[in-house]
Amino acid sequence: MQESRQRRPPEPLGGPQRGAVPRAVPLAPPRRGGIRGLPLLAVLGVALLALRLGVRVVTLVKTRGAAVEAANQQQEQQQRLQQSDSRKAQAPSVLSKAQLAQADGSDGRPVYLSILGDVFDVSSKPEFYGKGSGYHHFVGTDGSRAFVTGEFEGPPRAEVLDLSPEDVHGIVGWRDFYFRTYPHKGRAEGLYYTAAGEPTDTLRQVEARAAEGARLKEEKAKEVAKYTSCGMKYTTAEGGKVWCETGMYPRKLFDGMDGGAASFRCVCMNDIGWSDLLQVYPDCDPDSSTCQTAPPLEES
Ligand code: HEM
Repeated sequence: MQESRQRRPPEPLGGPQRGAVPRAVPLAPPRRGGIRGLPLLAVLGVALLALRLGVRVVTLVKTRGAAVEAANQQQEQQQRLQQSDSRKAQAPSVLSKAQLAQADGSDGRPVYLSILGDVFDVSSKPEFYGKGSGYHHFVGTDGSRAFVTGEFEGPPRAEVLDLSPEDVHGIVGWRDFYFRTYPHKGRAEGLYYTAAGEPTDTLRQVEARAAEGARLKEEKAKEVAKYTSCGMKYTTAEGGKVWCETGMYPRKLFDGMDGGAASFRCVCMNDIGWSDLLQVYPDCDPDSSTCQTAPPLEES
């Protein structure tokens, strides 16, 4: 105990106790038979006094220790409450369909859109989302599907699970864009979140399909990177042509869907075979190193 007093002396508690603590520190064990030159009773008396002071110091240290512990516990409790308050403050709010529909910019109201159930405030870009502008289709509703189909006519549609994994991944990419670009206002009750703001099974399936789409895209990109690109040229006089070095043959490699249409790229193959994914250019011999892809522009 004495050691602990020396390591960490009790802080002054104020008032009359001030100064009592340091005086009590030397607590030597009494020597049997008294100290030379002093009567035994006096020695015992001093020893007893010192012992009592020691007990008082021990009590003070213990009381102080308990007070510090209680204060720490109170502080921890306070922190936990603050954390849970801030978590509550961060928890996204849930908008009903009606609340979302109202956020269409009319009468000075904000402009919101929902994508996969996440709601964003796009009021800062009336040139895109204002009434009469190109992307007003998305406003006040969840029109997730049109982010890849480009179908801006007809009622907005939120469902996307019947689209390809790559398309669903594309929609998730748009959602990332909105998270990066616009204030997130909460979640929309509906297909993707419950009234309590919990993700629905549909949202879980969408996330899984998007992850599959990401994997497929990565695989395709690796596959495409394996091939050498063809030489390509277009002039009005000669039209378009693609070519490979001698001993290699141009093929149209399907490299995914782009805005609803299949997209291809010209690659050089070192054998004359072909497949649905590696097609021979129309009107070109499979073993030719050069293919015409567009006719010359006729002189008028
Ligand atoms: C599936 C089809 C399409 C969708 C879903 C789509 C969606 C969008 C959206 C939501 C924005 C606003 C982005 C923002 O908030 O900053 C935008 C901007 C824009 N879009 Fe489209 N778009 C599509 C097709 C097209 C096409 C075919 C063109 C061109 C012919 C085009 C040209 C533009 C341009 C120029 C901007 C403005 C970019 C800027 O200034 O930051 N979009 N698009």
